[in-house]
Amino acid sequence: MKKNICVLPGDGIGPEVTAQALKVLDAVADKFGHVFEYEQALIGGSAIDACGEPLPQATLDLCRKSDAVFLGAVGGPKWDKGGPRPEAGLLAIRKGLGLFANLRPVLLYPELLGGCPLKPERVAGGVDMLIVRELTGDVYFGQPAGRGSEQGLRTAFNNMIYREDEIERIAHLAFRLAQSRGKRLCSVDKANVLEVSRLWREVVIEVAVHYPDVELSHLYIDNAAMQLILRPGDFDVILTANLFGDILSDEAAVVSGSIGMLPSASLGEAHALYEPIHGSAPDIAGRDIANPMASVLSAAMLLRHSFALKKEAGAVERAVSATLAEGFRTGDIMEAGMRRISCTEAGDIICKKIMEQN
Ligand code: IPM
Ligand code: MG
Repeated sequence: MKKNICVLPGDGIGPEVTAQALKVLDAVADKFGHVFEYEQALIGGSAIDACGEPLPQATLDLCRKSDAVFLGAVGGPKWDKGGPRPEAGLLAIRKGLGLFANLRPVLLYPELLGGCPLKPERVAGGVDMLIVRELTGDVYFGQPAGRGSEQGLRTAFNNMIYREDEIERIAHLAFRLAQSRGKRLCSVDKANVLEVSRLWREVVIEVAVHYPDVELSHLYIDNAAMQLILRPGDFDVILTANLFGDILSDEAAVVSGSIGMLPSASLGEAHALYEPIHGSAPDIAGRDIANPMASVLSAAMLLRHSFALKKEAGAVERAVSATLAEGFRTGDIMEAGMRRISCTEAGDIICKKIMEQN
């Protein structure tokens, strides 16, 4: 198989973790006889520095021509002082490529139990959930949005809005994903208060008719935030809107022991983008100490979702598990008695594990 991947390393630790993920993709190509070609482009702060905007048209054009997009991270204190923000590039690429579905799997590796801040009995049965977050609607993009004034006082407003077809398409995807897993779907909203959530729930219930084999439940966002840390092992697929999904997925990340372990996929009709869910971590950038596993696992998601290379994706995931099982740890997941490794070493070990598998 021959494929083109558009690589957007971005800012902070983005470039260093991305380099390890590409090394892993090369190992996969080598072992399984594929050819992956990479073309790099600018996004975020590095794009602002080079051309004054966080998502140059050339980047969007290159993404549209590629078979998949692979992103590092964007942002940093350097761009917090006014002017265009790196995060705007992220929102623009999601909208520009029509990436309406954000998949965030949350897995607690048995080896990382010590890093989970919850009491052991709360996670004794394991944690394996998938958060499906709507990514191109909601209060993130709703118009009108802006500033005004009332009686001489400043006001600000955003519009929380969904059209029924936006809810429908993400719900269908979430139900299909639930069918391929534990067949349980929990839709999270705030239907006791918000009109937009009442439409959300209405549409999700309509879509559910097509998936009688999936058990559907509903939670209000505040209760969901609580249940997620009380009984994280009870969740299979969580379906939610853009803003609630942003919040819930960070909360869920903590359960996994380190945000440095969690990958994501953002899918649309025609394009797909893969990125670790951690940010650019400017405080540790350039020191070769970041955990590249979230980026490596994002590459596995790319292989599975964009190229239908199941066996190859499994090989990457097994290599990550084997690396942890042998006691290798980057700083964020380090514990007494384990062997501390750098970002580069983690990439090398994972590659070696892939090549050794039969
Ligand atoms: C995320 C991030 C982004 C979001 C920011 C950086 C714009 O928090 O991907 O979860 O809010 O969606
Ligand atoms: Mg977020």
